[in-house]
Amino acid sequence: MIFDLNLDRVRNRPGIKWERHGNDVLSAWVADMDVEVPDFIKEAVIERIEVGGLGYGFYDEPIPVLEAFKSRMDTAFGWSIDTEDVMRVHDVIQGLEWVLHTLTPPGSEIVVQTPVYPPFYSSVEGTGRNWVANPLLENEEGWALDFDHLAEVAARDNVSALLLCHPHNPCGYVMTSADLAQIIEIAELNNLLVISDEIHCDLVYSPHKHVPTASISELAAQRTVTLTAATKTFNMAGLRMAFIHSSSRQYSPQLKEIRPRMIGGINGLGQVATAAGWEKGDAWIAELVEGLDHNRHLLAEMLSEHLPQIRYRPPQATYLSWLDCRDLGLGDNPAEIFMSRGKVALNSGLDFGVEGTGYVRLNFATSPEMLAMIVERMASAV
Ligand SMILES: Cc1ncc(COP(=O)(O)O)c(C=O)c1O
Repeated sequence: MIFDLNLDRVRNRPGIKWERHGNDVLSAWVADMDVEVPDFIKEAVIERIEVGGLGYGFYDEPIPVLEAFKSRMDTAFGWSIDTEDVMRVHDVIQGLEWVLHTLTPPGSEIVVQTPVYPPFYSSVEGTGRNWVANPLLENEEGWALDFDHLAEVAARDNVSALLLCHPHNPCGYVMTSADLAQIIEIAELNNLLVISDEIHCDLVYSPHKHVPTASISELAAQRTVTLTAATKTFNMAGLRMAFIHSSSRQYSPQLKEIRPRMIGGINGLGQVATAAGWEKGDAWIAELVEGLDHNRHLLAEMLSEHLPQIRYRPPQATYLSWLDCRDLGLGDNPAEIFMSRGKVALNSGLDFGVEGTGYVRLNFATSPEMLAMIVERMASAV
């Protein structure tokens, strides 16, 4: 049902994904899905508007969305949190910039696992810090962290934090508890902050499981600041609502000193929608992940039939695929060729760092029919 889409409606949808390039282009770039927002979210938002509840929201506990967050982290991931340790922000990247600004010294170095979501670079640079790459390794079994290199760079004098994309965008890698334990060990040894962006936490394919970084041990909880949101899961990025969590005795008091006015009052409809999603979304998420799981394998079949030169490893999480197009001979930026010759909008791998040269990122959160059209157009461009 979720993936049974009216493609005309999708292609005429307002918003950056479908409006930016015009509707003769098929859009598989920015991380919005083509699926409809679930009914329980639409109903909650409409109800709030209909009862005239668009005034100021709550500043004091109990704040419904924080209760929903606590309960969802517990039931979904067995992570027990305290609502007092959670701050509301407008989006994850705003949260990231506040965390960098508040908890890391200007000019210090932040380690990122590359290739990675482009704002990780721009936010680090924009807040006056410098990023240091710890490139992911790719072997027969899939992606892996380079712990030897991580241990080496983390020991540099100027490094202040490890920034994790967990699950990883664009590689779709899901770090295991053992990975996280090693990361925390390295952070502890070098007295580093761990910032864990977990916005894709619900979109993980079995047998992989999302383990919140802060949940693995008391040591991890003391080192970690978590950033998350429900906006990716329920396809409502425009509603702008995200969370910063930390129960660290070192970091949490400093985060609480951020002036609420400098964050700004939080969008009431974003909170209503987020709470509804976390309270009522379990069955919908299960159906969504099943459909995405189908698409990630379908993409493999279609690529091997139409574009066998592309190397693709179905991701362990997220609806984003990282396609190695180097054997197609389309140069450093194949996204440009797919756009100009095939009228398909993909993300250029170059935006994700130097490791993305010759790669594109394709968003497969659409109907199987649309996915087939996208692959056919890509093939026609080659
Ligand atoms: C890893 C990651 N973090 C953050 C974001 C953006 O979140 P927000 O819109 O809440 O800033 C995205 C969006 O694709 C993402 O993939």
